[in-house]
Amino acid sequence: MSKKQLFLTKPLGQLLSESKESGGLKRTLTALNLTTLGIGAIIGAGIFVLSGQAAAQYAGPAIVLSFVVSGLACGFAGLCYAEFASMIPIAGSAYTYSYATLGEFFAWIIGWDLILEYLFAASTVSVGWSGYVVSFLKDFNINVPPQFSDATGTVLVNIPELGWKPLHAFAHTLAESGINADALPHVTCILNLPAMFIIALLSTLLVIGIKESANFNNLMVIIKVSVIVLFIAVGFAFVKSVNWHPFIPANKVESTPISEYGSFWLWLKAYGSEFGKFGISGILRGAGVIFFAYIGFDAVSTAAQEARNPQRDMPVGILGSLGISTLLYILVAVVMTGIVSYKTLNVADPVAVAVDAMGKGMFWLRPIVKIAAIAGLSSVILVMLLGQPRIFFTISKDGLLPPVFSKVHPRFKTPYMSTILTGIVAMIIAGILPIRILGELVSIGTLLAFIIVCISVLVLRKTRPEVERPFRTPWVPVVPILGALICFVQMAALPLDTWLRLLVWMALGFMIYFFYGIRHSKVRMANKKD
Ligand code: ALA
Repeated sequence: MSKKQLFLTKPLGQLLSESKESGGLKRTLTALNLTTLGIGAIIGAGIFVLSGQAAAQYAGPAIVLSFVVSGLACGFAGLCYAEFASMIPIAGSAYTYSYATLGEFFAWIIGWDLILEYLFAASTVSVGWSGYVVSFLKDFNINVPPQFSDATGTVLVNIPELGWKPLHAFAHTLAESGINADALPHVTCILNLPAMFIIALLSTLLVIGIKESANFNNLMVIIKVSVIVLFIAVGFAFVKSVNWHPFIPANKVESTPISEYGSFWLWLKAYGSEFGKFGISGILRGAGVIFFAYIGFDAVSTAAQEARNPQRDMPVGILGSLGISTLLYILVAVVMTGIVSYKTLNVADPVAVAVDAMGKGMFWLRPIVKIAAIAGLSSVILVMLLGQPRIFFTISKDGLLPPVFSKVHPRFKTPYMSTILTGIVAMIIAGILPIRILGELVSIGTLLAFIIVCISVLVLRKTRPEVERPFRTPWVPVVPILGALICFVQMAALPLDTWLRLLVWMALGFMIYFFYGIRHSKVRMANKKD
């Protein structure tokens, strides 16, 4: 097989005419639906779970700046997505854009990589969902059996007043407080059942209909956004400016285990600087961690074939949802770090910690915040589970995956087989794997997709300048180049083991491509006939 064949591109004319058809899917989504879909996918575990840990460990109050930096990087990538999504509004998202520009092999790589983003993100966030639901139910004295509340093999220890917590996360604190962890009751987890349950439930909804799913998403978005706005409005009154001083805590020089370093940053150690522990580098590391909070705006592009007017509405959905979420994130970070010292935020529910610090009179806000988090995480899982089958759908239409993945339900008009398959795999992953491994895989996979989309904009501007672009990325080539560069730096900051997992995942993808895709590719077959 020649190199040329491996990099065959899908003719743009063909893509444009395919994008005018819905492929059997129903075109019902408006610009508002697309924007709420984006907000649904974006606001979730990143703000409700990770923001506090990133402030406490890496950036301090300057986590606000981490949100600005990461938001800016996503903004560059978002502008590139908007150009493509309005030009080639097809459910395949980054996969399709690279098929048109970089060729089949890259398209497959990116399609395979997107599984890390959508499917794995659904599993990751469902693990966060499980944590919040277990804690919410406990407030009402309903106890989920601990052996069914976390990843397979996780050892939980029953800490007085705190309840069942993972031993690995609390061993240090227990030792510091002079408590002998071995003397406390232990259980080893079998499966994370609540996480599996929410995936099964939302997958069923997605099979039933896109409009029904969008309506559910709208409701969840209304709940989470209203509570966030309420938190910001109420919280400002409780801000003590002393908590913002110093705004950028000084860089800490202490010994960090090598395994915690990003691959790229090892060399910094040689200069006696401690990368990522506060100071300017802490802001960057914080940005890398809370990048997860922004993931999801691109999922809007997978609903392109279900949008009523994709050319006009895709950029509104992508950029609108990203803009609104960025603003809310920055305000939440300002208020949260103003109410309490950042040092107290190293918990799984930082917003609740800030509410507690408002005093007894504000306790009514606590369950409301938990409900908002549960609603928020539900919508993220929903949109991720919506995006993945649509990418499978497009890949299968191109022949690179078996036809079963593009089967549309005769009555519901949804890609039901790929939705069910996605749901089953996401459930298994959510039931057995821990959140840290999953989260970093999601980030590295998404960053790679963003880089390829930014580069693809540049390539297509050069190779097909004449094609109509209803939305044009401004300041090309600066925006795509900066987008790709910042994403690369964030990828480099991720630990080595995450890179290794990415490579193993890609190797698996190559095998599937060379055993199946290459023999069934429709573009390749058409090319042979010519
Ligand atoms: N951005 C999504 C979240 O924070 C993935 O949960």
